[in-house]
Amino acid sequence: MTATIRWAGRRPAAGREAPETKGTRMSAGSVRRPRPAAPGLAALALAALTLSGCNEQQMITQPKYKPLQPSAFFDNGQSSRPVEPGTVARGQLRVNPAYDLGEVDGQLVNVIPVKGFDPAVELEPSEARRTRKAFLERGRQRYDIFCAPCHDRTGAGQGMIVQRGFSPPPSFHIDRLREAPPGHYYKAITNGYGAMYSYASRIPVEDRWAIVAYVRALQLSQDPSMLAGTPSPAEGVAE
Ligand code: HEC
Repeated sequence: MTATIRWAGRRPAAGREAPETKGTRMSAGSVRRPRPAAPGLAALALAALTLSGCNEQQMITQPKYKPLQPSAFFDNGQSSRPVEPGTVARGQLRVNPAYDLGEVDGQLVNVIPVKGFDPAVELEPSEARRTRKAFLERGRQRYDIFCAPCHDRTGAGQGMIVQRGFSPPPSFHIDRLREAPPGHYYKAITNGYGAMYSYASRIPVEDRWAIVAYVRALQLSQDPSMLAGTPSPAEGVAE
């Protein structure tokens, strides 16, 4: 016997008007709900639904596949179908390796490949400053949300999670990381790094670069000599 979830509200007896349709539960002056054309029919439909077993319990337990569940239906035994070769999901077109992967032909990119930072993209100086400033603001916000819990707000690697026992990341202010190209940071966010997991599913590509720019700004704040000769994200901060 199948369990049936009972209609929780008051059910109109067949042929009688449902209490709701009289407007008794509405405040005076409110719009009335349209009366069902034939209350008898509505009750009948409800009964038919209940009898046919369309209740909440069965909707939860209806046949369906969960991720990675096997299936005897397909030849390879998997319920999840492989993506058709050449298919590109919306929002996942990768045409620019520098921007999308942080490396070109195996070489980590050495600039932040984003308007305002990429010297290949010409901008009016004032627009460049505005663009960089907005980008860094975004980067700071995202960094404080996603990275500061471990790397802390200054990048020294003493965030709250580390204080509570997680393995400490290196400070961003050591020479090796000052010298690491932007692509190194982008890839660490994208793929994870050692004990640190990947943020690819949580942080969109543009925001990853914003975070990279902000980490650079943090580094510059501790070592202005890094400014020498490079297109500087810090110009945006100074405004
Ligand atoms: C849950 C803690 C945690 C969070 C959150 C976190 N990291 Fe990390 N990160 C680590 C740890 C721990 C390491 C060192 C991993 C190792 O060496 O095994 C690391 C390493 C790194 C490295 C590589 C450093 C190197 O040695 O070359 C970079 C770059 C980095 N993190 C950037 C980020 C950025 C950017 C974010 C935010 C998007 C972030 N991390 C969020 C814990 C974290």
